[in-house]
This record gives sequence, C-alpha cells and structure tokens, in this order.
Amino acid sequence: MLLGAGFLAVRSLGQPPIEIVMSHRSLFHFVLAALALCFVISDKAIAKSAADRDVYKGVVVPILRAKCYQCHADVSDNPSGKKKIKGKLELTSLELMKKGGDEAPAVVAGNLEESILLMRINLPHDDEEHMPPEGKPQIEESELKVLEWWIKAELPVGKSMKDAGAPDDILAAVESLPTDEEVKDALAEMYAQADASAARLATARDALKDPIAEVSGHFPNSIGFISQQDSDLTFTAVSMRKDFNDEHLAKLSPVSAGLVDVNLSATSITDAGAATLGKMSRLRKLWLNGTGITDSGLDALRSLSDLEYLNLYGTEITDAGLKKLAGLKNLKKLYLWQTKVTPGAVEEFKKSVTDCDVNMGIKVE
Ligand code: HEC
Repeated sequence: MLLGAGFLAVRSLGQPPIEIVMSHRSLFHFVLAALALCFVISDKAIAKSAADRDVYKGVVVPILRAKCYQCHADVSDNPSGKKKIKGKLELTSLELMKKGGDEAPAVVAGNLEESILLMRINLPHDDEEHMPPEGKPQIEESELKVLEWWIKAELPVGKSMKDAGAPDDILAAVESLPTDEEVKDALAEMYAQADASAARLATARDALKDPIAEVSGHFPNSIGFISQQDSDLTFTAVSMRKDFNDEHLAKLSPVSAGLVDVNLSATSITDAGAATLGKMSRLRKLWLNGTGITDSGLDALRSLSDLEYLNLYGTEITDAGLKKLAGLKNLKKLYLWQTKVTPGAVEEFKKSVTDCDVNMGIKVE
C-alpha cells in the first residue's frame, strides 16, 4: 500500500484549468529571441537608429506593450483581444499612467521613488506585488534602464531620443530593443499560435469523445484526460481490483493510442493481457503491482520506449524478467519490492538504464 499511494495523485482529472496563455510564455520568449537575433545578423537595420526613435511611441510603448498591456489595457490595445485592466490601471497612454490605478499614479515626472510602475518592477520576483507577476515575461535589465531614464527625464513626449538628451548608454540599450511594429508582430504571432494550438487541442479531445464514452460505458469513472490542457489519457482500474482481468483490458483498445498513465494495481491481469499493454505505445506510467504478471509478460513491454515509471511490486518477476527491461532507457522509477529480483541483477540493470531509481523496498533482517 505504501508504494501504491502515489496513484491517486496521478489521476488529476479534477484539476482546474490553467490559462492557455501560460504555455505560450516560452513561445513568446522564442519569438523575442528570434527578433534579437535578426538585429544581430541583419546589417541593414530595419529599425530606426536608437537616436531617432520617438521616446514615448518608439521606445516606452513597445516595452509596455510586450510586458504589461496583456493585463493593463482596454480591448483595442490588449494583445489578448480582451479587456483586462488589473488594479484599475491602464498603461496605454501617458495621461492614464499619470492618473494611475487603485493605489497611486504609475509614473511621476522626475520622481523615481513615487513612480509605482518602477517600484513594482523592482520588487523581488517572489513578492506578490512584483510586476509583471511571477511566471510572465519579465522586464529585462536594458528595458528597466530605459524606463528609469525616461522618468528621470520627466516623461518627454513627441521627441526623439536624441532631442530628449538620451546619453550613449541609454541609446545602446534602446538599440537592442524591438520596435513597436516588431513587438506587435511577435504578439500577433504568439496569440495566433496560441489560438491554433487551442484549436488543435479541441480537435484532438473531440476525436476522443466517442472512444472515451465507449470505455466509460464498460468502466465508469475510470478514464479521463490527464489535464484540461491535454489530450493524453489516464486509466485506472483501482476501484475494480480483482474484478478487472485481461479481457477487460482488451476493451481499452479504442483509446490505447492516447493512454499515457495506466493503473492496474492489484487487478487480475496476467501475461495474457500484456500484449494489449504493448500496443499502448505512448505509456509513461504503468502500475502492475500485485498482478499475475511474470517474466514472460514483460516481453510485450520492451517496445514501450516512453515508459518512465513501472511498478512491479509484489509480482513474480525474476532477474530474467528485469533483463528484458534493459532497453527502456527513459525509465526513471522502477519498483521491485517483494519480487524475486536480486540486488546483483539490479546492479547490472542500472548499467544500461543509468537514470533509473530502482526501489527494492525496505529490507527487514
Ligand atoms: C498577468 C497580468 C499582469 C501583467 C502582465 C502585469 N500586471 Fe500589473 N497588475 C496585475 C494585477 C492583477 C494587479 C492588481 C493587483 C496588485 O495591485 O498587485 C496589477 C497592478 C499593478 C500596479 C498597481 C496599480 C495600482 O495603482 O494599484 C502597477 C503599477 C502595475 N501593475 C504595473 C505593471 C507593469 C509596469 C507591468 C509590465 C511591466 C505589469 N503591471 C504587468 C497584473 C498584471
């Protein structure tokens, strides 16, 4: 029981949805990184030189658009296409920033201490009030430098960087920043990809609706998606225990390509059912503890190259069986407590599956 305790946590069917936007953070970084690269490799600078860029529209706006508008802008300026004005603060015009949100003006000309926009950015990342919130694309060192200069220079409007008196180090920092057009393009691309991947996910989940219904018809409350943003499936026979046998397992074939977690702990599965498991080619976690599986059944598992977790606790597996698993290079956890496997065979196994943590249980002398 000790070893089986993890299975409930793995069935995460009740998880709350995580904002789609989260998963596109890395994409956003990628697009921005790609942009930065373009600057480096392109000798015909498409962007205006830093000195000629408009302080507000050409330098400040793109920084805030990339990192803040998502939560502090009305529909028309919000890259998400939705109105989101957190803390009642809009950052889309100088007037709105000076007016501020719930607390105080976001920016005060010439006053770094009273400009809470800066104060929030400068808070430690794990502070609840830090902006942007943890996990969102953060303000870079060069961007912060530019924003500080802008406030110190008393928020110039309608002037070029040169005319506003920007010193060389600030111009150098601006040179590395994408223009507003580039930020808009990157954001549009990012949200388009987010929409496309959301659509792909919806299609994939939809395609599984009937097969899931079929399996649920046989085994209620045993199958589902591993999370709201996934089309991978999890199955557990834990509530059926010994009533679940090899013939029942065969009824999972309509969903076998989608299954990544399968919990057959303490069921009546034997080597005859192993062939069905071999067809679940994407399996990452498999519980066979307390079943009738033996060495010969493990042949069918050799092809499960994605397998990361395998629980064989309390089965008749021997050293010969363990040898058959030596090709499962992605195995990270293998439970062999109360089997016939010997420590010597485990040593040998670990030479081929080097990252695997093999659990032989607590030795009682
Ligand atoms: C993912 C959403 C999100 C992003 C992105 C974000 N904010 Fe916020 N912001 C919030 C929320 C939520 C609040 C309200 C809660 C609070 O005051 O911390 C807030 C509040 C604020 C406040 C306080 C407003 C007031 O007067 O109370 C400031 C200033 C601020 N944000 C600045 C920024 C800046 C500058 C950026 C970009 C560098 C940014 N935020 C990016 C969500 C966000």
